[in-house]
Amino acid sequence: MNESATKDDVVLIAKRWKNKRGSLIMALHGLQNRFGYVPRDAAMELAEQMDVPLARIYEVITFYNYFKLKSPGKHVVSVCMGTACYLKGAPKLLKHASESLNISPGETSADGEFHLQMVRCVGCCGLAPVVTENETLLAKVTVDSLEAHLCKCKNKEKEKA
Ligand code: FES
Repeated sequence: MNESATKDDVVLIAKRWKNKRGSLIMALHGLQNRFGYVPRDAAMELAEQMDVPLARIYEVITFYNYFKLKSPGKHVVSVCMGTACYLKGAPKLLKHASESLNISPGETSADGEFHLQMVRCVGCCGLAPVVTENETLLAKVTVDSLEAHLCKCKNKEKEKA
């Protein structure tokens, strides 16, 4: 995981929710929204940023089935369906990603390489429409730029094989 991307993302999420009611759960939602699960280093950073013991964070994560501790796929592709992204063509991007990866939103490919999901606003509405692939944020995405990125991921996996 790219450390500075993670730290920046967590700082943003913590800033948004710190000192608000129910803030820890909302911040964890934010993390899972961003990464598709709650990575350990992100949980540690969140503990520091929100001044909450790490044990408390894990208590919450393990209490709610919703939170995942492991990445559901090697490449977690998240299409933002928040209002700004939706209005700028997110549904078309989701449809394309689904066809290109041959999985529906919420599914993981049989080989475990890709997981596709819809997420709500990731906090970068000015860059809409936004898609993330793990810690990489793609801005002002078009069907072509999305396909180019997915191809890059697929080729990377082929090279490794
Ligand atoms: S609606 Fe997509 S980033 Fe805000």
